[in-house]
Amino acid sequence: MRPSEIRELVRVQPPRIGRRAALDRCHDIDDLRAAARRVLPRPVFDYVDGGADEETTLAANRDTFRRTRFRPRVLRDVAEPDTSVRLFERRLPMPLGLAPTGYTRMVDAAGEPAVARAAAAHGLPYTLSTVGTSTIEQIAGTGHPDLWFQLYMLADQDRTDALVDRAAEAGYRVLEVAVDAPVAGHRGRDVRNGLTIPPRLTPRALLDIGLRPRYWTGQLRGEPLRVANLTGSGAATVAAINALFDPRVTWQNLERVRRRWPGTLLLKGPLGAADVCRAKESGVDGVHLSNHGGRQLDRGPGPLELLAAARAAAGADYPILLDSGIRHGMDVAAAVALGADACLIGRAYLYGLAAGGGPGVERALDLLTAQFRRTLQLLGVRTIAELRECEVHIDD
Ligand SMILES: Cc1cc2nc3c(=O)[nH]c(=O)nc-3n(C[C@H](O)[C@H](O)[C@H](O)COP(=O)(O)O)c2cc1C
Repeated sequence: MRPSEIRELVRVQPPRIGRRAALDRCHDIDDLRAAARRVLPRPVFDYVDGGADEETTLAANRDTFRRTRFRPRVLRDVAEPDTSVRLFERRLPMPLGLAPTGYTRMVDAAGEPAVARAAAAHGLPYTLSTVGTSTIEQIAGTGHPDLWFQLYMLADQDRTDALVDRAAEAGYRVLEVAVDAPVAGHRGRDVRNGLTIPPRLTPRALLDIGLRPRYWTGQLRGEPLRVANLTGSGAATVAAINALFDPRVTWQNLERVRRRWPGTLLLKGPLGAADVCRAKESGVDGVHLSNHGGRQLDRGPGPLELLAAARAAAGADYPILLDSGIRHGMDVAAAVALGADACLIGRAYLYGLAAGGGPGVERALDLLTAQFRRTLQLLGVRTIAELRECEVHIDD
């Protein structure tokens, strides 16, 4: 062997460093979660990752999806599966959307605009939260053609009406009213970590600046964190923001929103059969079954459990979306096969955002898209209609 051949064999690849290289090394959402854990200060990682009380529901959400089992078909020419689906008069490349998450700029300074742009690049809807850190108008300014707004009904009805009107004027297509938070869930990790929003520069935080300079430089250079759509309410802390929510709201409040909102209206929460029927009667256009990713009522029902009851109550044609625990394209395939029209993700994109800003969200969406397509091919499924016929059960 000549020396040049030996050199070729033992050539050492220089290590690739930087955010982009770190993202390329993430091959599923769990990898992005591990990357997020390295990048984020502990209280911020726990804010994203944690659940309510004993985190029983948080764990059960994943456990149930892992226990789903498919029965594939073979020899069916799956070279070009059509993964697209029609949802609320738009065609999506797969049955997936991005759920609302509060205080998103705390996770990465690029915040909601970066998430909305990544969603737009993938043709998927993006939902802005009432407690987002960007305004309704800023996100409309990204040009995303399929924006949804998540509404918490506030004690101050004029303020609630104003949010509804602003979303309509800014061209949002879907309003989803979240009804799973009459009061804030007890997130033990946040309480123990002393999480404050905006974060306080405690001695521990100052120490952390040395360990995570990229995170802190982003935060300190960016706009100060604020609950952008509720400015003027005088509420700056989480406790003060929580006090704006109204535990006395009832179906009458929802019906008032229905009369005001001209577009598609969804209801988001842990909705059982009776509530799904009531939603339909109240003129709601579809339901988004959710236990808030295990962050509100602990020991509540999981999304697949809710789905079976909701589909039986709502009938075959009523739009049913779900979230809470989606971390893989297989989860989306299982949910659709079990009767959902589409799924939403929360943490899956937040881990990506933490790990790499906008490109990190794109990485998360690329992974989920590829996983979903591959799952359909391995199932011998060529269309979403065929996926709905696919046999799936949940192992005991
Ligand atoms: C950090 C974080 C913040 C959230 N903030 C909101 C919110 O402001 N409004 C809301 O309706 N849901 C909120 N959610 C719940 C999500 O919309 C979604 O239901 C949940 O994340 C789905 O579960 P998953 O994280 O397992 O995908 C939040 C979730 C997380 C993880």
